[in-house]
Amino acid sequence: MKYVSVAVDGPAGSGKSTITKLVAKELGYNYVDTGAMYRALTYNFLSNGLKELEENDIKNLLENVDFRVEYVNGVQYVYVNNVEVSDKIRTAEVSKYTSLFAKSPAVREFLIDTQRNLAGTNNIIMDGRDIASVVLPNADVKIFLTASVEERARRRMLDFERQGIENVDFEKVKEDIKARDWQDENRDIAPLIKVESATLIDTTTMTIEEVVARMTNLVKVVEK
Ligand code: DC
Repeated sequence: MKYVSVAVDGPAGSGKSTITKLVAKELGYNYVDTGAMYRALTYNFLSNGLKELEENDIKNLLENVDFRVEYVNGVQYVYVNNVEVSDKIRTAEVSKYTSLFAKSPAVREFLIDTQRNLAGTNNIIMDGRDIASVVLPNADVKIFLTASVEERARRRMLDFERQGIENVDFEKVKEDIKARDWQDENRDIAPLIKVESATLIDTTTMTIEEVVARMTNLVKVVEK
């Protein structure tokens, strides 16, 4: 049986994970969150006291880590040394260090086979930064999601509000987003880019429902 694979790339705050999760549910596909995989390895590095991009230390830790992902009703669960870490990897500290460790060739090499193998064994929708460009260049559908920096900062502010985090400076949030964009777009390996064959969806003025419908329709065309 031929399984469908959908690649979704885009910058932080483009709505990628929220929307991709909903599209996966709508279609009954596994939602493969590659950012969570980078976060989980980073969590392991930090737990072992590693805070610098030292390729030899990284390789040592990767040799000794037991890393795996599981899918239950399309939802991804990430395990590090048999502990489920999906919640622990969402802290500000892990976010900050993940963009650093995502530059490591050893880290990217470690994850790419896991990610590719997932595509051959189920219908999947995978989101990240390099999915259409590196991981699944032959994906059946490729989508690049984006939104203006202002809108992405506004969404991040709403997230903080929902979490009860107060006194957050909008300009600072905007600067953090720009800094992460720069890191993701300018690293040597697998930078964030839109491949020519990807459909660009600018979500700045769209509702979540509109984006979900647009993406679901793009996938339904190839399912036929
Ligand atoms: O999407 P996210 O915020 O969970 O991603 C966390 C970090 O991992 C972010 O700095 C970009 C990086 N990342 C990456 O380099 N390649 C991917 N395929 C996914 C995420």
